[in-house]
Amino acid sequence: MGLLTVAITQLLLTFPFVLPLQNRQFDDISVDRSALLAFKKTIVVDPQNTIGNWNSSSHVCKWNGVTCSPNSRRVTELILSGGHLQGTISPFLSNLTHLERLDLSENSLQGCLPDELRTLTRLEGLSLHSNQIQCEIPESFSQLTGLRYIDLSNNQLQGHLPPSLFYNCTELMYIDHSDNSFIGFIPSKIGNHLTHLEALFLYQNQLSGSIPASLSNSSKMVDLDLEFNFLTDSLPSEIVRHMYQLETLHLSYNNLSSDDGNTNLTSFFTAISNLTHLRELQLDGNDLGGELPSVMGQLHVNLSEILLQDNLIYGPIPPSISHLSNLTLLNLSNNRLNGSIPSQIWLLTNLERLCLSNNSLDGAIPSPPGVLTHLGLLDLSRNRLSGAIPSSLGSLNQLRKLILNENLLSGSIPTSLGSCTSLEILDLSHNRLTGNVPAEVAGLRGITIYFNLSSNFLEGRLPLQLGKMYTARAIDLSSNSFSGNIPPNLDGCQEAELINFSHNSLQGPLPKSLGNLISIQSLDLSCNLLSGEIPASLQNCKTLAQLNLSFNDFNGSIPSGNLFDSLTIESVQGNPRLCGSLPGLQSCNSKETSFHSRKSVYLLVGLVSASAFLITICCVVSFRKIKQPSFIRNRGSSRIALSLKLSYPRITYRELVEATEGFEQSRMIGSGSFGRVFKGVLRDGSIIAVKVLQLQAGNSVKTFNRECQILKQIRHRNLMRIVTACSLPDFKALVLPFMANGSLESHLYPQTQNPGYSDLGLIERVNICNDVAEGMAYLHHHSPVQVIHCDLKPSNILLNNDMTALVSDFGISRLIMKIEGNGIDENTTNSTANLVCGSIGYIAPGTNFNRLSNCLSLKV
Ligand SMILES: *[C@@H]1O[C@H](CO)[C@@H](O)[C@H](O)[C@H]1NC(C)=O
Ligand SMILES: *[C@@H]1O[C@H](CO)[C@@H](O)[C@H](O)[C@H]1NC(C)=O
Ligand SMILES: *[C@@H]1O[C@H](CO)[C@@H](O)[C@H](O)[C@H]1NC(C)=O
Ligand SMILES: *[C@@H]1O[C@H](CO)[C@@H](O)[C@H](O)[C@H]1NC(C)=O
Ligand SMILES: *[C@@H]1O[C@H](CO)[C@@H](O)[C@H](O)[C@H]1NC(C)=O
Ligand SMILES: *[C@@H]1O[C@H](CO)[C@@H](O)[C@H](O)[C@H]1NC(C)=O
Ligand SMILES: *[C@@H]1O[C@H](CO)[C@@H](O)[C@H](O)[C@H]1NC(C)=O
Ligand SMILES: *[C@@H]1O[C@H](CO)[C@@H](O)[C@H](O)[C@H]1NC(C)=O
Ligand SMILES: *[C@@H]1O[C@H](CO)[C@@H](O)[C@H](O)[C@H]1NC(C)=O
Ligand SMILES: *[C@@H]1O[C@H](CO)[C@@H](O)[C@H](O)[C@H]1NC(C)=O
Ligand SMILES: *[C@@H]1O[C@H](CO)[C@@H](O)[C@H](O)[C@H]1NC(C)=O
Repeated sequence: MGLLTVAITQLLLTFPFVLPLQNRQFDDISVDRSALLAFKKTIVVDPQNTIGNWNSSSHVCKWNGVTCSPNSRRVTELILSGGHLQGTISPFLSNLTHLERLDLSENSLQGCLPDELRTLTRLEGLSLHSNQIQCEIPESFSQLTGLRYIDLSNNQLQGHLPPSLFYNCTELMYIDHSDNSFIGFIPSKIGNHLTHLEALFLYQNQLSGSIPASLSNSSKMVDLDLEFNFLTDSLPSEIVRHMYQLETLHLSYNNLSSDDGNTNLTSFFTAISNLTHLRELQLDGNDLGGELPSVMGQLHVNLSEILLQDNLIYGPIPPSISHLSNLTLLNLSNNRLNGSIPSQIWLLTNLERLCLSNNSLDGAIPSPPGVLTHLGLLDLSRNRLSGAIPSSLGSLNQLRKLILNENLLSGSIPTSLGSCTSLEILDLSHNRLTGNVPAEVAGLRGITIYFNLSSNFLEGRLPLQLGKMYTARAIDLSSNSFSGNIPPNLDGCQEAELINFSHNSLQGPLPKSLGNLISIQSLDLSCNLLSGEIPASLQNCKTLAQLNLSFNDFNGSIPSGNLFDSLTIESVQGNPRLCGSLPGLQSCNSKETSFHSRKSVYLLVGLVSASAFLITICCVVSFRKIKQPSFIRNRGSSRIALSLKLSYPRITYRELVEATEGFEQSRMIGSGSFGRVFKGVLRDGSIIAVKVLQLQAGNSVKTFNRECQILKQIRHRNLMRIVTACSLPDFKALVLPFMANGSLESHLYPQTQNPGYSDLGLIERVNICNDVAEGMAYLHHHSPVQVIHCDLKPSNILLNNDMTALVSDFGISRLIMKIEGNGIDENTTNSTANLVCGSIGYIAPGTNFNRLSNCLSLKV
């Protein structure tokens, strides 16, 4: 959000307006009083008792949310934001004729906007965002001619945007009607009247027609966001040409086209080349056609993001793009680009993410000169790139995702990739790679997401180092020519949920240790030459849901228990020497039936005694297991959280409200500098912690989401994972796994029993210190986006059920700064201090000063 927008927001929502009363006929505070009491009557639920003190025992001007003029003659402000009030908007509010600011945002107000509110002619700020308001905007609101700020976003409003509102309210600087169901056109003469407009947010509606040409008169525009509508016609070259203040232009997912019948992007890029403040250009998902013009290189050097994915852009990538040296994100995926990747692309030394996937690019991958210290994501998948993988990719030491699948790459896997120690995803699948897997690459211990080399021509034995991929969640080496045995230490892959070694030439028996793969859900070893018996230990893999051992040479009987009881023939077919009770398999005792009865008796006696022996053993073992603390059993509860994480769930605001019983006070488990934390239970029973971030008015839902995407990928045993995020224009929350043992602070300074006495022993303390140090080291040294914690203290160190310490709250400063800090150059100190470090009240005594200065030096 631009500086000016922030300024207006603050002006209107923070500081009271002091206007001289012009028509002072009589002091009618009693009118205001009865209007407010009438409003109170229409509020049926007030969970936080926000308006509880609205009664005769105190003066109106002392009521919560009410501000009066200095002489207490009239009510000038009514601010009841975020109180979860339920009810309707009373028409009696129209009697508050001196009202300048009305903010009822983030409640659960329903019904229509009362037409009567037109009498609030002194209103300058109206915010009703994030409610459930229905119907249309009354035409009569056009009489609110003093309005400067209006935010009706995130409601259920419908119908057309009333043109008279935009034509009559000429003071408007900030309009946000996004996330409703508005239809029809954007009023065509909007720009002729709104010359002060700095922000226009109409995203996520059903608006059609073209972007009105008159907007070219709104030369003060800073943020223009119309994405996710049905807007048609050509890109607004002439319209934005003179918006010299424009910082963000978001037109993604509409039906815009380029000039000359959707073939010429030149004039648009020429038009925006004078916009020196432009930071974000998002035109993705528009089916734009044409070539990328070389004039792209003349865009202002401060441009930081270009999103052009999901269009129909063809031709080569212009080498001149390398002039945009501040670019951090370039996404050209899902187009029809061809030609080779210009080697100049590596001159973009600030790039953090480069996505060129799903085009028709050919030629070799240019060798990076080794200075790209920020690049975290390189996705060149699904092109026609050929030649060898450049070994200098190994110098991209911050690389976290290297995605090169579905190309024509050949040669061997460069050993140097083993230097990319931050790699979380390595996907080289569906290429023509040959040779062995270098031990260095198989030993990449940072892989936390997946390692995919499938469908190549790789050969040789599986490297033993594979067993040290302690944190990889999926390992796929299928459809190659690997031979030799499955490494017995594979059970080191304790986080692996999927292992696929199918379609190779692996031999020998399955190691019994596979039964120790405690996270495994899918194990595919089909179409190999594996032999021997299926180890019964596999039934220890409680989470194993899919097992495929078909088309090998296993023999003996299929074990029973757990997974094996629900096995189908598909899992084991094509093993002619295997026996069992599954239909289609030979029965194991078929030979025994041919024995004569005496032998059967001996056998029976033998079996009985053997099983008695086994039962005894089992009892001992299982007794041990039960005594064995937490580890095994804890997997159960963390599973739920894990499966949540796997699917990158979208959790809606409503679900969070439900899970936390409407952010009920009794559910609050903590509050900190960044907001409050609630314990919640989702419908599926999984327990989560919901951290509701305390933000000032902000609109960068997408910035927040993007940052969350980045933070979400930070994975380390000692760092709290972000399960998902929920973000509305003014509600931002992070969903985290719930930590059973609370914070370190609560163990160091217990409040309840034995105050002053800590239950932590020396060894536990040392372990916790170790954990914290490892977490912080990862943050500082191995995370491609620089993350400075800035708020490390005992209450931010959480302990899980086995007392492993996890650092939480890292990177939240980054989130907040990105949202609020964009474009604020001066006076950052004050706002930074407020935003990053929160209110002084939460800062632990003694750490005050240091932390403040830490934060201040962290200018993003
Ligand atoms: C009126 O409000 C006060 C707080 O200002 C509260 O203590 C009192 O109980 C309220 N009285 C009634 C009748 O609700
Ligand atoms: C207050 O507003 C209501 C509804 O708009 C109206 O019926 C009523 O007459 C007004 N009361 C006064 C005292 O103006
Ligand atoms: C525009 O505002 C004027 C007052 O400034 C008002 O008289 C007029 O009715 C408004 N027009 C519409 C269409 O509401
Ligand atoms: C800009 O505004 C003026 C007067 O308000 C109007 O005459 C002109 O047509 C507008 N420009 C465009 C492109 O609509
Ligand atoms: C989008 O534009 C194309 C032509 O550019 C047109 O054929 C198509 O119907 C439009 N789709 C919508 C939803 O307007
Ligand atoms: C694209 O448009 C520009 C002017 O806007 C023109 O100079 C150029 O020749 C056009 N390119 C093509 C390929 O038509
Ligand atoms: C950019 O600005 C310069 C100076 O104001 C002007 O001469 C030039 O025509 C402008 N270019 C475009 C494409 O608007
Ligand atoms: C470009 O960015 C730098 C650093 O943030 C800033 O100092 C400069 O003013 C910006 N230039 C323009 C034209 O916005
Ligand atoms: C953009 O690049 C220029 C020169 O390369 C640099 O001085 C400036 O600080 C950069 N701006 C930003 C926002 O990084
Ligand atoms: C910051 O704001 C204060 C008051 O709002 C002002 O006095 C001061 O000059 C500003 N600092 C800068 C660097 O602009
Ligand atoms: C800094 O923030 C504090 C607390 O919000 C405020 O009282 C003070 O006026 C601010 N100072 C400036 C220079 O803006």
